[in-house]
Amino acid sequence: MRKKILAGNWKMHKTIAESVALAQDIVTALKAKPSASEVIVCPTYVALDRVATVLAGSPVLLGAQDMHWESQGAYTGKISADMLKAIGVTYVILGHSEQRAYFHETDETVNKKTIKALAEGLKPIVCVGETLAEREAEITEKVVETQIRGAYAGISASDAVKTVIAYEPVWAIGTGRNASPQQAQDVHRFIRTLMASLYGDSVANAVQIQYGGSMKPENAAELLSQADVDGGLIGGAALKADAFLGIIASS
Ligand code: PGA
Repeated sequence: MRKKILAGNWKMHKTIAESVALAQDIVTALKAKPSASEVIVCPTYVALDRVATVLAGSPVLLGAQDMHWESQGAYTGKISADMLKAIGVTYVILGHSEQRAYFHETDETVNKKTIKALAEGLKPIVCVGETLAEREAEITEKVVETQIRGAYAGISASDAVKTVIAYEPVWAIGTGRNASPQQAQDVHRFIRTLMASLYGDSVANAVQIQYGGSMKPENAAELLSQADVDGGLIGGAALKADAFLGIIASS
């Protein structure tokens, strides 16, 4: 049985003080009522260190929203895997559709980052997903397959099994319009079958595949009950403790 994995992607929201307060609320609630699921929060870079202090000794893990593929150097504005590890980060979101749409992320850069994260012992959350135009053109599977093949190029089975995949249909992100449970299940199944063809059944059966895109307490239970939906990457609903905890409670 794959463990459910729920990650809050805080994007470019919250000051350090607000991040600390939200992390504290989540930790306090989960101490009172522990969850069997894996729970991760991904604040902005500037809040990571302080949030790490809040999470210490709790089961909640820390994730970053991106990283660079080089170890160090003249890359103004960028953050390395080493820097994240030194803070206590264990997960890193890579290839988010907002990075792809606004910041020149490509399958090739996702691949470089995934390779680097794995080499450094960070667990990548590799994001894939089609746009509305691609869904309407009925090329969802082709798009997702290209993204997965690109992200995992040159990555071994023993490394691939350490990754998490987030299927996030772009048209569902931040729109309030989630994929239906069946739509999510269909693509998750497709991704698992693709992973089986790339890496064999044991990797495919072990790898956790999160759904992302307008997941909220009202729709989480049904989405999370699909056979191949192993968790959620949650944006808007992760910014309020009650909503995030509501999703965790339905996992
Ligand atoms: P959303 O974002 O939950 O606000 O749709 C999900 C994501 O982009 O990770």
